[in-house]
Amino acid sequence: MNLTHRFIPATQESARVLLLLHGTGGNENDLIPLGRDLDPSAALLSLRGNVLENGMPRFFRRLAEGVFDEEDVIRRANELADFLRQLALEYGFDPSQLTAVGYSNGANIAAAVLVLRPGTIRSAILFRSMVPLVPAVMPDLKGTRVLMLSGTHDPIVPVENSERLAAMLEKAGADVTHRFEEAGHQLVFGEIAAAKNWLSAA
Ligand code: MLT
Repeated sequence: MNLTHRFIPATQESARVLLLLHGTGGNENDLIPLGRDLDPSAALLSLRGNVLENGMPRFFRRLAEGVFDEEDVIRRANELADFLRQLALEYGFDPSQLTAVGYSNGANIAAAVLVLRPGTIRSAILFRSMVPLVPAVMPDLKGTRVLMLSGTHDPIVPVENSERLAAMLEKAGADVTHRFEEAGHQLVFGEIAAAKNWLSAA
């Protein structure tokens, strides 16, 4: 498996690698400015989803908006976890230094990797995420930090759904911070500053 991607090495002595995962219809260029803003010195690894929905890249198949093809979620999350190992060797970064930064569908695949392949990603910022699936076996996520940023009037992600994801990750032992913005599905200014603070507190 190979996903179209961009890797931008760290600009200074930083071991951190931000794994950037776009929303539906995006590509590997979309989140580069956000990543740079979140951490000016980290390496950036930005992937393009290889599932096409009417020509729009995504990270897994869905049957309808908010209704996911769970078999495909499992398959793609495992492929992504394996691909990250391969990329760590190729670019010479330490996989334990990855922080996933996902928006919408990108946040949902990051959440799927968290629960299906624990240990692959130990830190994640999830913008507008929802429950990707309920795993058959609850993972042990002790030592994993997650920041969730959700919108109070997001038409795609009901508040109750993002709360369920936060509860699931917490129950698995992750250290979860869940912040709500007065916002819809689009990102708003204040949450970027909140994400920066959360990152620098690691
Ligand atoms: C998804 O399909 O992952 C969610 O509905 C969010 C989206 O990409 O629109």
